[in-house]
Amino acid sequence: MSDCNCQFVIFGATGDLACKKLLPALYHLHCAGRMPDELRILAFGRRPWDDKGWQDFLHEQLETYASNYQADHFADFCKHFEYVRGEIHEPESFVRLRALLTPEGAEKPAGTIFYLAIRPTDFIPVVQRLSSAGFNQEGDYRVVIEKPFGDDLESAMQLNEQLHNHFREDQIYRIDHYLGKEIVQNLLVFRFANLAIEAIWNRNYIDHVQITVAEDMGIENRAGYYDQAGALRDMLQNHLMQVLTLIAMEPPPSLEADSLRDEKVKVLRSIRPIPKSAVTAYAMRAQYGPGVVHDKHVPGYQDEAGVEVNSVTETYVAAKFYIDNWRWRGVPFYLRTGKRLAAKTSSVAIRFRHTPQQLFRETSIERIEPNWILLSLEPESLKIEIQIKEPGLEMRVRPVQLNASYRKDGEQELDAYEALLLDVMEGDRALFIRFDEVEWAWRVVDPIIKSWGRETDYILTYPAGSWGPDEATRIMDKEDHYWRNQI
Ligand code: BG6
Repeated sequence: MSDCNCQFVIFGATGDLACKKLLPALYHLHCAGRMPDELRILAFGRRPWDDKGWQDFLHEQLETYASNYQADHFADFCKHFEYVRGEIHEPESFVRLRALLTPEGAEKPAGTIFYLAIRPTDFIPVVQRLSSAGFNQEGDYRVVIEKPFGDDLESAMQLNEQLHNHFREDQIYRIDHYLGKEIVQNLLVFRFANLAIEAIWNRNYIDHVQITVAEDMGIENRAGYYDQAGALRDMLQNHLMQVLTLIAMEPPPSLEADSLRDEKVKVLRSIRPIPKSAVTAYAMRAQYGPGVVHDKHVPGYQDEAGVEVNSVTETYVAAKFYIDNWRWRGVPFYLRTGKRLAAKTSSVAIRFRHTPQQLFRETSIERIEPNWILLSLEPESLKIEIQIKEPGLEMRVRPVQLNASYRKDGEQELDAYEALLLDVMEGDRALFIRFDEVEWAWRVVDPIIKSWGRETDYILTYPAGSWGPDEATRIMDKEDHYWRNQI
């Protein structure tokens, strides 16, 4: 069990994010014996509850959202919590919070973590109140925030500036939960612990890279947010772009947070700016219409509750980027993500170049398929596709997959939040996003945002339950490039 003696305050403890992700993640850490013994968690919320009211609520949420919920761990888990009734817009609530967090005579905690599981418009008001209440640059206070970090470059820069008025950059933990995913972290190990892999990880061998995050679900009850955001802001600017940086970065001098983040920023800075006049060649968007997902009829985006009439918000985006540096010049990185697609799957597919000479052919006319490295985030897998001789009298070739059994029997899957919460408690910022990463990622997508912002009367559609619009191949460089749906 970790002995990190810190305290945790969750603002928005009864909200969606807390219920679906944070509380189950904390509970799983507790059950796995990874939660610090002395961890105090203050659940800050508006509801007029005492600790018992909070515990009933917590119990209900864990029953609904925690996997393998076992009631016998609950009583011990509850001991970590105190419920603080408060209002984030009321300075007195913060004074009370201060008294609770720093009782006179008590031993100083190793660190106090403020998790802002609240609406993004409330980030700055809460940060200001925390700072006025004395939680600021002077002590070991950590502030955790979730995306959206702004909705374009300008607003992201403003947000960073306002945060920096109260907290140092090393106190700010910007979460991108994709960095907590096992296979995403494995990208670092796969690349930098395997000489054979790293030797071929460049433009001399790799033809192109595809990053896909496909979701089968729709927008659920999030129209208020999603209709303003769309897939580019909701997923591509952050999650997919983060995965891209890990695939493309140079080996860092160490795994220390800033070493790693410096390399990621270099990648973002090397991405070729998309010319204003050529956005359609680099990016395309679409919206789901009605369709059938897993044998169930579902409505189109326009018919989802809360979506504006004639909304042209994209639920699907495909885009390509070039990284103009020595390693990657000329290699397209194709990124796509969408809601209401045929399956929930996220993957990285890396296609190698053709052999310089085609000694073998699959049939008399077809060229044999080049090698692929296929990493699937969900479900987890790691495969390499190569060609072998088909047993028999003829010299025929067929593809096979070398399939690494990524997880041994009995090795439990951790949710991304479990890993990231532990990192915050331990003060490890390597898997959190630095302010300049956020800004550079916005800079990369800004030309697309601006161009789409001007096209307000039309958006292409795709049937729910499909793999997206056929036109998504439009952005591809070569005729033999195609989206790899099966991994
Ligand atoms: C969130 C997006 O950041 O990531 C959601 O806001 C999306 O729209 C979710 O559904 C996907 O996360 P995961 O871990 O299920 O792939």
